[in-house]
Amino acid sequence: MSNLQSALAVVVGQGQLFLDGDIGERYRVDTTRRHTSRPCCLVRPATTAEVAAVIKIAAIHDLPVTVVGGQTGTVGGAVPRDGGLALSLERMNQIVETDPMSMTMTVEAGCILQHVQEAAEAERLFLPLDLGSRGSATIGGVIAANAGGNRVLRWGMMRDMVLGLEVVLADGTIISSLTKMLKDNAGYNWKHLLIGSEGTLGVVTRAVLRLRPAPTTRQTAIIAMDSFEEAARVLHRLEVGLSGRLSSFELMWQEFFARMTEGQLGRRPRPLPLDHGYYAVVEAMGGDPEGDAAQFERVLGALIEEGLMRDAVIAQSDREAEGLWAVREEMEAGLRSLRPFSVYDVSMGLGDMRRFVDHAEERLKAAFPEAVVLFYGHAGDGNLHAIVSIGRMSAEIQRAYDEIIYGAVREVNGSIAAEHGIGVSRAPFLPWTRSTSELALMRQLKATLDPLGILNRGKLLDALDT
Ligand code: LAC
Ligand code: ZN
Repeated sequence: MSNLQSALAVVVGQGQLFLDGDIGERYRVDTTRRHTSRPCCLVRPATTAEVAAVIKIAAIHDLPVTVVGGQTGTVGGAVPRDGGLALSLERMNQIVETDPMSMTMTVEAGCILQHVQEAAEAERLFLPLDLGSRGSATIGGVIAANAGGNRVLRWGMMRDMVLGLEVVLADGTIISSLTKMLKDNAGYNWKHLLIGSEGTLGVVTRAVLRLRPAPTTRQTAIIAMDSFEEAARVLHRLEVGLSGRLSSFELMWQEFFARMTEGQLGRRPRPLPLDHGYYAVVEAMGGDPEGDAAQFERVLGALIEEGLMRDAVIAQSDREAEGLWAVREEMEAGLRSLRPFSVYDVSMGLGDMRRFVDHAEERLKAAFPEAVVLFYGHAGDGNLHAIVSIGRMSAEIQRAYDEIIYGAVREVNGSIAAEHGIGVSRAPFLPWTRSTSELALMRQLKATLDPLGILNRGKLLDALDT
């Protein structure tokens, strides 16, 4: 064993150090499988002190460190560096404390999101963050990525659910600020700098999460509109008409709805006919078992009567609600024939979204007449996903897609990365969405917090440089 390996083994124990060929594939890829690597070592520490000791050793040996989590990313951000160190916090998966009065839960970074959601529910509490990869994404990962998902419209992103944070900095310093209050203006809020920094500024080891009282009612529907303008007006009307209870508004352009429901036909009928331009999964949550369902029906009914909403199907049971959500979330069958494809997550003002879609689609189809382009997303947050496929893929094709999509984003002053981050694959386009002075500030922050460039080397700003 080399000096490095024995030093790591002393910290984490021989059984928690894995070398080269013994490092399982799940630590070396992300969800796209386009990004994959060969780290030299994997360690699985059990405590924050062990993480800090590992980081100190990595700094001495100039060994880049990437934290691996659920590996549900799409941009290569959590894929270790070739020859680097993969740091898995999967053994740090304990719920440390639930405090029902403060409405907080203190958790270790390796906890799976869904386990935390379920543990909260068991106490009639609620962690609003929810996304398709809930069953494998880790708390550390959703903090590092500042994940969004399906309920941002009402409760915000992960950033809005983190009250306290414990991190290990690049020199091995532990900052443990596991506080429970929302309001804290005592100087710079460094926590928010770390959240969403994609593992480049520190390693999250524990967090205090902000919970809510669990809603006791839920109404789910799929609705149809004929134009984007109608869809936007319906969104705003639902926000006020449901008295703030609207928690999801997942917009789907017709072709997305058509293909996903087509793929699911063997298992469930299409919930609405294909006559409309736009569909949305809408959900409301509340606390009035007598009144909430009636209010939901009344508001949707009024919108249909006005002619703003063209059709709607309201779930009558939890099972039906799952079936409606499946149109948006169970994408595997609908996507099968489109592989290989690229997925985008961009954002902009809702007022600019139609122009973006028109430009992006028109230019993609001009460059690739056979292209299938599907739009869908969290329209309530101005966050749009696009899937683009011509049935084959190469670096040139990817580059051509990127230039068209990100070019159209730039024209509406939007963001090239609403939820999934920059990682490796989007780094070349960071200057299309951030100004020179913003990038200079980011570089200064990185140099201050990680002068040796140990943390997630090769990602974000580093990937822009190379
Ligand atoms: C979603 C992922 C792509 O919302 O962010 O489905
Ligand atoms: Zn999304």
